[in-house]
Amino acid sequence: RTRTVPTIAELRALLAERRAGGASVALVPTMGALHEGHLSLVRRARELADVVVVSIFVNPLQFGPSEDLDRYPRTLEADVAALGELGVDVVFAPAVAEMYPRGASDTTVHAGHIGDRYEGASRPGHFDGMLTVVAKLFHIAQPDVALFGQKDAQQVFLVARMVDDLDFPLEIVSVPTVREPDGLALSSRNRYLLGDERRAALTLAESLRAADAAAAQGTAELLAEATAAFGDHDGVSLDYLVVVDPATFLPVDDAFRGTALVLVAAVVGSTRLIDNAFVTIG
Ligand code: PAJ
Repeated sequence: RTRTVPTIAELRALLAERRAGGASVALVPTMGALHEGHLSLVRRARELADVVVVSIFVNPLQFGPSEDLDRYPRTLEADVAALGELGVDVVFAPAVAEMYPRGASDTTVHAGHIGDRYEGASRPGHFDGMLTVVAKLFHIAQPDVALFGQKDAQQVFLVARMVDDLDFPLEIVSVPTVREPDGLALSSRNRYLLGDERRAALTLAESLRAADAAAAQGTAELLAEATAAFGDHDGVSLDYLVVVDPATFLPVDDAFRGTALVLVAAVVGSTRLIDNAFVTIG
C-alpha cells in the first residue's frame, strides 16, 4: 500500500525503519503532473531497490519571476493513484513551508559554470534552485539510488556533477526519454499547447532527427540541417541549438568525433520546450 507523507520527520522515521531491516531505497524526484515519462523512472526504480520513494514538490526556488510557478499543473490525487498502481511505497509530498520554513533558503547549491549555459542562460538561477532542492531531498531520503530523465539532459548532468563534487553517497541513474508516437517528448508542459501549437512543438523532435541524419557529415552540417528544420514553421522560435560533449557538457569543436549530445530549446506560443538526442559525429 502506498503511503503519502507530508513531513520530513515522518519520511525519515519510515525510511529509517525500512533501512534498519536491510532494505535499499530508490528516490524519484518529480514536480508531479505525472505522465509516462515520470512513470518509466518509477518502473526502473522498482527494479533497482526494495523501497521506492517518489517526491512530488513544485520547487519555487527553480522558477524565475516570470515563469509558470503559479500555473504549473498540480494533480496530486491522480498522481498518487498512478503511483499506487506501480507499487510505489512512499509518496513524499511536502508543502512549501515544510521544505522552506523560513521562506526561501539562505544556503543554496551553486551549479557552477555549466549551470550558466543553455537552459541556465535562458533561466538564470534555475539550476541553483534545482540542485538545492535535490540536495535537500537526498539528505532527507538518503537514497541508495536516484533516477532522473535524459529528457532534462543538463539537469541530470549537473546532478551527477554535484554528487561527484560534494561526495553524496548514492548512484545517479539516467532513464531514456519517453516520447509520443510522433516523436514529441512527453512533458508536463505539453498540456499548455493549444491547437496548432501541438503540431509546431514537433519541430524540436524533427530538428533532432535532421541532426542525426546529418551527423556523419560533421558538426557544421549537423547544425545547418537541424537549424533548417525551424525554418519551415511559424509559431515556434528557436532559443538554442548546440552540440555538446556528454562528458563535459561543453560545445564540441569541428574536430570532434564520436558520441555527442544535441540540445535544443524553443518557445511554442507561450510554452518553452526542450529536447535532446545522442548522435554519432564523423
Ligand atoms: P519534473 O519536470 O517533474 O521531472 C521529474 C523527472 O522526470 C525528471 O528527472 C525528468 O527528467 C523526468 N522526465 C520528464 N519528462 C520525461 C520524459 N519524457 N521521459 C523521461 N523522463 C522524463 O525535473 C524536475 O521535475 C525537477 O527539476 C526536479 C528534479 C524534481 C527538482 O525539482
